[in-house]
Amino acid sequence: MARIAYDNEDAAAFEASRHLIDAELVAWREAISRHLDPRPGMRVLDLGSGTGMWARAFTAWYDGVEVIAVEPSEAMRARSVHRPVVPGDAEGVPLDDASVDAAWLSTVIHHVPDLTNAARELRRVLRPGAPVLIRSAFAGRHHAITLFRYFPEAVRVLDTYPSVADVEAAFATAGFAPAGFEQVPQTTAPSLREAATRLRREAHTPLQLITDDEYTAGLARLHRAAETETGAVVDSLDLLVLR
Ligand SMILES: C[S@@+](CC[C@H](N)C(=O)[O-])C[C@H]1O[C@@H](n2cnc3c(N)ncnc32)[C@H](O)[C@@H]1O
Repeated sequence: MARIAYDNEDAAAFEASRHLIDAELVAWREAISRHLDPRPGMRVLDLGSGTGMWARAFTAWYDGVEVIAVEPSEAMRARSVHRPVVPGDAEGVPLDDASVDAAWLSTVIHHVPDLTNAARELRRVLRPGAPVLIRSAFAGRHHAITLFRYFPEAVRVLDTYPSVADVEAAFATAGFAPAGFEQVPQTTAPSLREAATRLRREAHTPLQLITDDEYTAGLARLHRAAETETGAVVDSLDLLVLR
């Protein structure tokens, strides 16, 4: 069970407000390429692929790389901009043993109910030595993410997510060791005004899980700040690599 429903309303909000374009992902493309070492014939699992933004980007960026998108929510699959996308989740990946060369999990790890089972399942489908790339906001790591500035109560939710140490410990039980950790920036919106206009509560787990009053107060703070702040909204999430 994910922390939120990922029903049709969430999926529509996610597709409308969370897709980033290549120009906003320059640093992510560089970091992912470095750890992935993409080459023709490679097969990459995008686990919890959502509405397919990353699967589509990887397919465009990396010639000859096959991206296998696996996603448990029917509503997210229905809106996926990458095809094919197959049903499955972190504890049941519908792929053969040792059949993929890398796994990508973007803002998924906090939805996985049992990280140890997920690590075992990834160990099964990955070829020996293949990397797992985890993009996430981990517990305690809210400082470089703009939304938490305006919705400080959402930090309470983030702090229930797995920490980097929690993920490393769970993956160690399946033989994975840390192979990289870095904070990677992205341009989330060209301005705070645009970010405020685009914001959809349903597209953000931490905003769904604060109270309505907390959300309303945060939204007012965000809109007030957007009247005066100029410049692009740049957020940094973490990239944890395990092998
Ligand atoms: C925040 S969205 C991220 C979607 C996509 N990875 C992205 O970054 O655009 C989280 C996704 O994880 C999926 N999810 C929830 N529980 C999962 C699980 N146990 N295993 C794999 N994916 C899961 C949800 O259905 C949802 O599509």
